[in-house]
Amino acid sequence: MPADRAGWSWLMGKVYGLVARNPASNEAVFEEARLQPGERVLDIGSGAGHALRLAAAVVGPANVFGVDPTAALASTAEKRVPGAKVAVAVAEDLPFDDDTIDVVWSIASFHHWEDPEAGLREVARVLAPGGRVLVAERVLRRPGGHGLTVAEAENLSHRLATLGFDDVEVVKRKAGRHEMAIVKGRTAA
Ligand SMILES: C[S@@+](CC[C@H](N)C(=O)[O-])C[C@H]1O[C@@H](n2cnc3c(N)ncnc32)[C@H](O)[C@@H]1O
Repeated sequence: MPADRAGWSWLMGKVYGLVARNPASNEAVFEEARLQPGERVLDIGSGAGHALRLAAAVVGPANVFGVDPTAALASTAEKRVPGAKVAVAVAEDLPFDDDTIDVVWSIASFHHWEDPEAGLREVARVLAPGGRVLVAERVLRRPGGHGLTVAEAENLSHRLATLGFDDVEVVKRKAGRHEMAIVKGRTAA
């Protein structure tokens, strides 16, 4: 990576870790996930790792994994949760074997994925039987911003059903000043 990009990436990681986050959305997803001790959790687009820390308190840091394409954020997240592993990777090409994760969540990241369909297929591949997915985005009034409209969230839930997920639903939750749509599903046991 050119030095100027590396510097920018480092700065972005620092700034993002300090300010550009919504702790309430992390907490809402954590609560919805109802983690059990020992479950293996993957956060796609884990950013500075705040949600990873919530997961680690229940499942243990060794069971916590993240991926983020921004190297500075991946490294910030690993420092935040010693023992967790955060890879520099994208949703569309997850560095995990089939059936190895119990809970996948992705918070305010899905709308950034270049190929959402490929990312969802990867989620289905890495989840173990009976595994859960939670994709959380801020609810938007119109398409094109940092989140999903209600119609887009419903569409995502239909995509999950088409991919074979059961118990698919869209849960709406208040998270700080924003409303979040959490699209949930479960792989067949
Ligand atoms: C708005 S931030 C959210 C970070 C964190 N989940 C949170 O809620 O604080 C979006 C994150 O998605 C990551 N991202 C962008 N494209 C991605 C992709 N294709 N796969 C996985 N993560 C991606 C970005 O690097 C960024 O860290």
